[in-house]
Amino acid sequence: MRKMRVAILISGRGSNMAALIRAAQDTDFPAKIALVLANVSGAGGLGIAEAAGIPTHTLDHKPYGKDRAGYDAAMQTVLESHGIELVCLAGFMRILSPGFCEAWSGRMLNIHPSLLPAFKGLDTHARALAAGVSEHGCTVHFVTPGLDEGPTILQARVPVLAGDTEETLTARVLAEEHRIYPEALKRVILDLQHRFPDK
Ligand code: GRF
Repeated sequence: MRKMRVAILISGRGSNMAALIRAAQDTDFPAKIALVLANVSGAGGLGIAEAAGIPTHTLDHKPYGKDRAGYDAAMQTVLESHGIELVCLAGFMRILSPGFCEAWSGRMLNIHPSLLPAFKGLDTHARALAAGVSEHGCTVHFVTPGLDEGPTILQARVPVLAGDTEETLTARVLAEEHRIYPEALKRVILDLQHRFPDK
């Protein structure tokens, strides 16, 4: 089986990254995690990736200031140098430039901790609790220039229980994130391999 070369982009602890790495250790999983790239030096996930023997790269965003396109061009160079074919955002806390989104159209995934289109943006669990919804969850979607707007690949629903706090709800959703992100990645790769068998 041909394994697609995947990069995971992180900014923090990298628990979704770890779930993807774990899944890709299965010989039958159609992805090889070929790079973990962080925009923050010392991001917790970097240590996990290194311990798993995965190449890592830190590309600090600060020297780029407001030059989003410049940062993304530098990222593109790193991705190309590692022969990356598909990108997974996993807690990557940067807005991507339209050009970068176009370049990876249909080949860049993100996980968002809400049932999109509900609760785009930050603080999703607190906002879900404040809104009094009875169901919450997470979404894996393709990345497009609009923030948290791309087509959905997979969602998981969890109940909001009486007495839930932000912490308890976060933990319930996160467990589902770790389950559906590898599943969504697998689906996307199998679909790409089916549609483009020679690549
Ligand atoms: C996750 O909740 C993810 O959905 C959101 O940021 C968080 C990252 O957590 N985009 P982790 O770094 O994967 O542990």
